[in-house]
Amino acid sequence: MNTLTLDIRKSGIEVSADMKAKAQAANALLHSGKGAGNDFLGWVHLPSSISDADLTAIESAAAKLRAKADLVVCIGIGGSYLGAKAVLEAMSDPFRLLRKEQKDPTVVFAGQNISEDYIHALMEASKEHSVAAIVISKSGTTTEPAIAFRLIKAAIEQRYGKAEAAERIVAVTDKARGALKTLATDEGYPTFVIPDDVGGRFSVLTPVGLLPLAVAGVDIRALVRGAQEMEAATDEKVAFDENPAAIYAAVRNALYTNGKKIEILGSYEPQLQYVNEWWKQLYGESEGKQGKGIFPASVTLTADLHSMGQYIQEGERTLFETIISVGEPASKVTINADKENLDGLNFLAGKRISEVNRMAELGVQLAHVDGGVPNIRIGIPRIDAHTVGGLLYFFEKACGISGYLLGVNPFDQPGVEAYKKNMFALLDKPGYEEASKAIKARL
Ligand code: PA5
Repeated sequence: MNTLTLDIRKSGIEVSADMKAKAQAANALLHSGKGAGNDFLGWVHLPSSISDADLTAIESAAAKLRAKADLVVCIGIGGSYLGAKAVLEAMSDPFRLLRKEQKDPTVVFAGQNISEDYIHALMEASKEHSVAAIVISKSGTTTEPAIAFRLIKAAIEQRYGKAEAAERIVAVTDKARGALKTLATDEGYPTFVIPDDVGGRFSVLTPVGLLPLAVAGVDIRALVRGAQEMEAATDEKVAFDENPAAIYAAVRNALYTNGKKIEILGSYEPQLQYVNEWWKQLYGESEGKQGKGIFPASVTLTADLHSMGQYIQEGERTLFETIISVGEPASKVTINADKENLDGLNFLAGKRISEVNRMAELGVQLAHVDGGVPNIRIGIPRIDAHTVGGLLYFFEKACGISGYLLGVNPFDQPGVEAYKKNMFALLDKPGYEEASKAIKARL
C-alpha cells in the first residue's frame, strides 16, 4: 500500500478545476505515449514490468560480486550514478566505515567527476581491498566514466589477470550500441541492459540502480514493491485529489506561475541528502529548457538553517519549499538530564531527539510560510527500501506530469551537449580542428 502523503495546505495554492483537468490530461498523455519525448516513456510502467526473473538475475550477479570483493567501484555519471548513490546513502548507516566488521561490500563511486586527486585517492585506497567494478553508461560514450573505467579496468587486469577481471567487472549499458557494449562483448563481461525507452535520470529502477544497490545489500525487492505501489497510486485512472504526483505537479506549476521560480527540496534527515541531488537532476534536466523551468535547489536541515536559513527567511521572495518529512526514526535516543544544567537544556530531558527535530520542522515551516515561502510537505512514515522506492517513483511521475504542464519535452537534455563540444575542442579531439582554433582564440 502507498504510504506517502502530500500536504499542500501551507502552499497557499487552491488548485483550480482547470489546473486539475490539465494535470489529469498531462498524466493521461504520459500513459497514452502521445506526448513529447514519447520514445522515453519506458519508466512509466517500469516498476510493474520488473519480473521475479529480472530481480533474481540482478541478485545473482550481485551475489557473485559480493563473494569476490569487499570494495565495489561503481562507475557512472548523471542518471547512471545519482539514483544508486541516493538510495545507498538513504539506506546506509552513515558511520558504517567506522565499524570493525563490514557485513556488506563497500560501494564507492567513480566517473562522476574528472578530478585527478579523486581517482588517485580511490585507486590507492583500493589496493588494500579485493576489488570489483560495475561500469554503467547508457550511451557507452560518456567521457567522465570512460576515463575512470579505463584506469580501473587496467588496475583490475594488472592485479588479477584478464580472465579473472572478466569475473569482477559487470557492465550496464545499451543492448546493442555504444563503445561500452562493444568492449563488454569483447571482454566477456556479464552485461545488463538499460532499456532503450528509459532515459538516464529515470533509470534508477533498472539495473543501473538495482545492481549496485543489491551489491550493497539493499533489499531491492522492497524498493521495487514501493515503486509498484506508487505506480498504481499515480495511475491515470486515479482521481486528481487522490493522486499525490498530479497534485504535487499542479501545485509547483501554480507556484511557478505566481513567480516562485526556485524550489528548495529539504529534509531533516541527512541521509536523504543524495535523494535531493537525484531530484535536482531529475527536475533540472527535465524542466530547465526553452528559457523556462523551476530552478531545483536543496537544503539539509537543520544544518542549512545556519547557512541558507537567513536567505530563505528574508531574501528575494522567489522561493518555495518542499520538505520530505520522515515520520519515525529507525533508532531511539533520549536526551539525558544533567545535574549542572549549564546549557539550560534540562527542560528537554527525557525527550527523544526526534521530538526536538519534529518541533524544529514545524517551527521552521511556520516561520518560512510567514516569511513568504510557501510550503509543500511530502510525508513518508520511515526511511526504508519500500518507502524510498515509492518516493522515487512519485518524483518521477510528478516530473513527467509537471514537464507536460510546463509545455516542455521532459525527456530530452539538448543543453548538456554544449560543454562537451567546447571540452573536446580544447582537448584537440580529432575532428574538432576548426573548433579548437576558434575556441582557443577566445581564451
Ligand atoms: O539523464 C541523463 O540522460 C544523463 O544524466 C545521463 O544519465 C548521463 O549523461 C550519463 O549518460 P550515460 O549513461 O550515457 O553515460
